[in-house]
Amino acid sequence: MTKTKKQEWNSNLAFLMAMIGSAVGLGNIWRFPYVLYSNGGGSFMIPYIVSLFLLGISFVLVEYAVGYKFKRSLARILYSIKEKFEPIAWFILLIVFLITTYYICVVGWDLIYFVLSMTQQWGANPDLYFANNVLHATSSVYGIFSIVPNVFVSIFLIWVAACLILRQDLNDGIGRVSKILLPLLVLIVIGIVVFSLTLPGASIGYTQIFTPDWSALGNLNVWLAAFGQIVFSLSLGMAIAMTYASYLPEGSNLVDNAVLVAFSNSGFEVFNSIGIFSILGFMALTSGLPFNELVTEGTGLAFVVFPQVFNTMGDVSLVIAPLFFLCILFAGITSVIALLEGVCYSISEKFLIERKKTATIVCIVGFLISILFSTSLGSTILGVFDTYLNNFALLFAILLECIIFGWIYKFDDLIETLNKNSRIQVGKTWKVVIKYILPICILGLWIQGVWTTISSADTLSIIIMAALTVILIVIPIIFAKLPALNKDYYNV
Ligand code: ALA
Repeated sequence: MTKTKKQEWNSNLAFLMAMIGSAVGLGNIWRFPYVLYSNGGGSFMIPYIVSLFLLGISFVLVEYAVGYKFKRSLARILYSIKEKFEPIAWFILLIVFLITTYYICVVGWDLIYFVLSMTQQWGANPDLYFANNVLHATSSVYGIFSIVPNVFVSIFLIWVAACLILRQDLNDGIGRVSKILLPLLVLIVIGIVVFSLTLPGASIGYTQIFTPDWSALGNLNVWLAAFGQIVFSLSLGMAIAMTYASYLPEGSNLVDNAVLVAFSNSGFEVFNSIGIFSILGFMALTSGLPFNELVTEGTGLAFVVFPQVFNTMGDVSLVIAPLFFLCILFAGITSVIALLEGVCYSISEKFLIERKKTATIVCIVGFLISILFSTSLGSTILGVFDTYLNNFALLFAILLECIIFGWIYKFDDLIETLNKNSRIQVGKTWKVVIKYILPICILGLWIQGVWTTISSADTLSIIIMAALTVILIVIPIIFAKLPALNKDYYNV
């Protein structure tokens, strides 16, 4: 294999599976049900669908068109548009890379729970078990010096798995893994949802999804929440769609593919919510606790509430619980490899390092950073990384992408690229969305994010955020300044 061997999907199915696998992740399983519930239940579907069409699909189309047209890595694309934009590419990629370092830690926790679920070792008090026995969590800063062995090992294993997949050729690695894990994931979710609907009390839960609170529609925060969910769930602005689309052969149908990916991702999260809510309905009935006390998001839902539910389910939970954690594991892994692929591609293209070596270097560096999250202070640091990178840095990056591709780059070229082989055509409306509506919505979300981040920050968070800010400024500049070892890199 030559060092710069061009990667290309061997079928549209491989591309679709990889794209859907990249989108379906932790965000679909544990973020969406909570966001849906706390923003009006059934009526939330209106801002959600509007955001999906107007903003989500629109931005994915920009990424597809740019990746497909340039057939290059993000760093080289931005360099080609304007030399000065190269640091922005490394800034985006660094954000994505840092997000991956903690995303992998959560997938690692899930791996631990997959093993624990075989014997339901979390006992009668899953809340305390998670904090004391799994995380060994402390709020003391000295916790950073104490590594938690089980978390360390599981993070290491997920990095090894990601590395082994990324080292393979595109179709043998990402393509094949997505084609195997995604159908398995869908089958498991179908099984869990069907089972959950047979549980007593299921209707207490799933009717919440279909019970609308129309007054929520007048609340701006509900619209921002819908948009925020689409950003996270469709992995907008993370250079994934751009990277994957750059591997498409000539003649590919971009718009139809984008619509299919977006529908599959949203279909998955809505369908999966029916299962999650039904299970919570069962818990409300058996425990007598009010439903709203059970609905929570993130780690609270997966590693505390669900183990509590499994405790009350009897023997059947010995099958359902491992399947539930396996589901998160599969969804997580396909997202992790997608997040890393764009980072590897830019490094490999600029520094002429072959795929295997790049993947190994990126994964080793990533693992070293992830060690931070395997300490007793890990979950606290993770919370700060998550808030800062998602609410602040990533939204800022997407805003920059909107400006570059909507205002500075020849936008009409993108329309031509998209319409060339697609049945669904885009035109003036799409242009207006990308140039005006999308940046305004992102700005709204960003202001809200900055406000939330600042108003909830304590001293430790401020120190971590300040360090991240310095890193996010300095490292991209260094990467952009380093001379490319690939002479083609500068051919614009
Ligand atoms: N889109 C991925 C998720 O939902 C990042 O988790």
